[in-house]
Amino acid sequence: MVSLRNIVSFERVKWTIALYLLLQLSLVSAVKHHDFKTCDQSGFCKRNRAYADAVSASATQSPYQINPETIVFSQGQFNAIVDKLLTDGTIVKLPLTVSFLSSGLSRITLDEERRQKGEIELRHESKARKERFNQAPDWAIVGGLDFDKSAQLSEQQVSGTTSVQYGADKRKKAIIQHNPFKIVFERDDQVQMIFNDRGFMNLEHWRPKIDQADDDGSEKEDQSTWWEESFGGNTDSKPKGPESLGLDITFSGYEHVYGIPEHTGPLSLRETRGGSDGAFTEPYRLYNTDVFEYELNSPMTLYGAIPFMHAHKQGSTVGVLWLSAAETWVDIVKAKRSGQTKRDTQTHWFSESGILDIFVFLGPKPADLTKAMGDLTGNSQLPAQFSIAYHQCRWNYMSDEEVQEVNAKFDKSAIPVDVIWLDLEYTDDRKYFTWDPDKFQNPIGMHERLDLQHRKTVVLIDPHIKNTHDYSVVQDLKEKGLAVRNKMEQIFEGWCWPGSSHWIDCFSPEGRAWWSSLFKLDYFKGSTLNTYVWNDMNEPSVFNGPEITMPKDNLHHGNWEHRDIHNINGMTFVNATYHALLERNPKKPTRPFVLTRSFYAGSQRLGAMWTGDNLADWSHLKESIPMILSLNIAGFPNSGADVGGFFGTPSPELLTRWFQAGAFYPFFRAHAHLDTRRREPYVAGSPYTEIMTRAIRLRYQLLPAWYTAFHEASITNAPILRPQYYMFPNDEAGFDIDDQFYLASTGLLIKPITMEGATSTDIYIADDEIYYDYFDNVIYSKPGTYRLETPLDRIPVLAQGGHIIPRKDRPRRSSSLMKYDPFTLVVFIGKTGNAGGSLYVDDGETFDYQSGAYIHSEFSFDSDSSTLSSRDITVKGSMTKAYHKAMAEVRIERIVFIGAPSEWQGKTSVTSEQDSKKHESQLTFGESVGGKAAWAVVKDPKITITKDWKISLA
Ligand code: GLC
Repeated sequence: MVSLRNIVSFERVKWTIALYLLLQLSLVSAVKHHDFKTCDQSGFCKRNRAYADAVSASATQSPYQINPETIVFSQGQFNAIVDKLLTDGTIVKLPLTVSFLSSGLSRITLDEERRQKGEIELRHESKARKERFNQAPDWAIVGGLDFDKSAQLSEQQVSGTTSVQYGADKRKKAIIQHNPFKIVFERDDQVQMIFNDRGFMNLEHWRPKIDQADDDGSEKEDQSTWWEESFGGNTDSKPKGPESLGLDITFSGYEHVYGIPEHTGPLSLRETRGGSDGAFTEPYRLYNTDVFEYELNSPMTLYGAIPFMHAHKQGSTVGVLWLSAAETWVDIVKAKRSGQTKRDTQTHWFSESGILDIFVFLGPKPADLTKAMGDLTGNSQLPAQFSIAYHQCRWNYMSDEEVQEVNAKFDKSAIPVDVIWLDLEYTDDRKYFTWDPDKFQNPIGMHERLDLQHRKTVVLIDPHIKNTHDYSVVQDLKEKGLAVRNKMEQIFEGWCWPGSSHWIDCFSPEGRAWWSSLFKLDYFKGSTLNTYVWNDMNEPSVFNGPEITMPKDNLHHGNWEHRDIHNINGMTFVNATYHALLERNPKKPTRPFVLTRSFYAGSQRLGAMWTGDNLADWSHLKESIPMILSLNIAGFPNSGADVGGFFGTPSPELLTRWFQAGAFYPFFRAHAHLDTRRREPYVAGSPYTEIMTRAIRLRYQLLPAWYTAFHEASITNAPILRPQYYMFPNDEAGFDIDDQFYLASTGLLIKPITMEGATSTDIYIADDEIYYDYFDNVIYSKPGTYRLETPLDRIPVLAQGGHIIPRKDRPRRSSSLMKYDPFTLVVFIGKTGNAGGSLYVDDGETFDYQSGAYIHSEFSFDSDSSTLSSRDITVKGSMTKAYHKAMAEVRIERIVFIGAPSEWQGKTSVTSEQDSKKHESQLTFGESVGGKAAWAVVKDPKITITKDWKISLA
């Protein structure tokens, strides 16, 4: 029976959702600032800033000091107790570890003894765990924690400090000062980084709540947010009282810092306090949140958080990973020390709860940082091949027939596409794992029709489970007690797309096992092995919650408060889905594809991310580039932005430019809001459709290079899109550049057009190498800034000489259909006359590559001998032979040389050799005209990709 109460609450829910949609549509409006806290409205942010100000204004010493009697150094680890001295003479004991790792990193943790021992009392009857949260590493870290047992105390110890030398050749040093506590990190005797340099270290120790009147006055700070904090109609009950921790970290002589996504704004992070023009006034915030119509050029928080920062100066990159899962803010100031020519970047980090856990990276190269980050938090997933091709999404394709229609229109327009996506409305009344029975009468038939062109479906599955009586998923969730609980220990109820909902708690192993069971084909009827998943709203987004998310005093598995785990929450959900997809077909698991909106350090292991609800506006197209670059250097390369912009209607020109940029996003998906006009690439008509088609086809043509790049990222975690400072760490002129990038190791330099009506653009070349315009071979032979003509059909792409790029030039309907197509190699001859490159190929679906089922070739062109050769560098495994056999017929059908030497003029044939068989094939030479490079094409050299070969052009 439906009670009146239910009706009333149903009406309320309906109106909230209607209001939410309305807000989404009010395109002229900006971000709703009042929904999100400023630093002043966040108790611990305000307190830590105030603490920093008070310290800066006074000459008092930092109250943290190591008790020298507690120091133990052994087997690569320094242990001691840091005493926090309170003004009344009380000492709070804080166990400190400084670990030296074989990777060359060091790790600092600081906890609180009383909480560690569980001796504290909670302020009210809450089941919340008493200790400081210390399980972030369980989710984020997968390796790289071995101790460097050869780390040693330095021979010369200055009194009052302990110095430890570590890393290869003992070139790194941590000088731990006891009183006040401070750590100076050196590399090659140069100071790189200083912890507690400015004395902002502040660990809010546990204390019982006493009436302000009875307080001994030891703490003169503002206590108004210690025990309770209200925002937007919600009161956070804070059972543990104040427990934030803060630390300042100075990067000595480093003028640039990058990373800590996800934010809009420039790649090189801005100052946030007292800076010059263009500086922010709020700290960068990391608190995963669903921010409607997010604003550009802002330190405001967004959907995901990776608390990893690079500090960069000419010739050196260092960094820190601040492993907190709680809300975190970072202040940035740049200041010159007397006697220095370069400014220091002074950062100040503070998190609401948890232990202090920081990894220190001393570089010296940017690639050392990304590699070490991969060793720690895992490399980027080797994605299923289809998922790096083009994805067509919108909210929503409303029926299986409509999906079929879109599918057919792509074919009719000869536009390749690999995936058609289904947003929210495919479900029966927003109940995940069900289908709308009227609109999607035959989902299996729909998948089967897509499968004819080897296309896939991705369906949306969010973490909120509709709270309704006729839904077995929610019944199960409740009965099994697998949902997140509120502070009263009851199942938490909030509103999201389905109205009243509950949230699965993926911190619970039982919760994850149950989640997996829902994806079994006999449970999620209408899904197939070709149905993949989009995890959205996993910050989590709660429409009626504080800051559109969950109350911080909610409880998760193990009785950790939501406050402690918030930034990891989204990743745990994706982790559950990833494993569910793996287990769907246990006999022959295929690589899962999961797209997430919320993320944390480590999410790169599980799939791709996108930058959420952007706007169909040129400014959003422009900012997508630094956003994606920031994700790339922070360890999450498989990233993209909604092509076309989510809200609003792009002009045909904007849409076209967005497709051209999107063809170079690692994750390439067009998406649009429910209420926008249709804008699949075939809709706009001539000339836009043709130009967008060319951009998509360019992506498909370059898929072998993209897949090779993803493979590289899967073993080194190197960025797929690389900013200028990463490529040229010595070139200061590039440190601020974030509107152009290199595609992995291919040498392709791309500068997307992000300005309306632009008919030309400037592109910056840092190195003394030849660059060729990718499309017409115009030569740029010196470093400098060049103006490129950019009519609408032109994407500024230059190819750096010295690279060999694998391509597939036959247009197909989907990437899987290209599986056995022959390759083209393009050799961009460099200044030395040489070039090199590589190709990685596997089945693109399974995990067989882990048993050697792949082809990995290294190409090199040597000018002295005029020989192009290929060497098989596959590390052989049990499945190599069978895979190579299956691929034995796959050929290289064409080799194109750009910058061909003039001696080749007049030459008409070349000799190729493979398996001791020689073959003569035709060579065509084109001379250099009008600033364009000479070229040569070798046709069908009768070589295949599984074995070594060489071609002599002498
Ligand atoms: C969120 C997502 C968006 C999606 C919508 C409906 O706003 O960011 O991409 O279309 O929810 O599911």
